[in-house]
Amino acid sequence: MIRAIVRPEKTEEVVDGLAEVGFFSLTKLNVVGRGKQKGITIGTAHYDELPKVMLLMVVEDESVEQALGIITEKAFTGNFGDGKLFVSPVESAYTIRTGEKAL
Ligand SMILES: Nc1ncnc2c1ncn2[C@@H]1O[C@H](COP(=O)(O)OP(=O)(O)OP(=O)(O)O)[C@@H](O)[C@H]1O
Ligand SMILES: [Mg+2]
Repeated sequence: MIRAIVRPEKTEEVVDGLAEVGFFSLTKLNVVGRGKQKGITIGTAHYDELPKVMLLMVVEDESVEQALGIITEKAFTGNFGDGKLFVSPVESAYTIRTGEKAL
């Protein structure tokens, strides 16, 4: 499972880029968070947390690198706050409609 935390304004580009190569299934969540810079200071105002979008994608092991590459390419601006990618194993997945063990 890839948890990708990206800039909200980059979400569409990321999702479209993934779909272009066949990654259609995903879950999208609006989240707030902070990274190493502990939020952002603009003038005299400090914001502890910034809005981000988290994409949850469970893909086959052999597709992880490709999916990460697309997300990185599409979410990149080069500035602080471009986002994070976390990858973790999933024990099993089931499709409710069919009862099948499947992504
Ligand atoms: N270690 C972490 N654990 C959980 N969530 C994190 C972690 N680091 C960052 N995030 C989430 O990712 C979002 C984007 O983080 P961000 O891109 O600022 O990471 P960073 O490590 O500070 O990198 P950069 O130096 O490029 O800003 C944060 O707002 C937060 O939601
Ligand atoms: Mg940061």
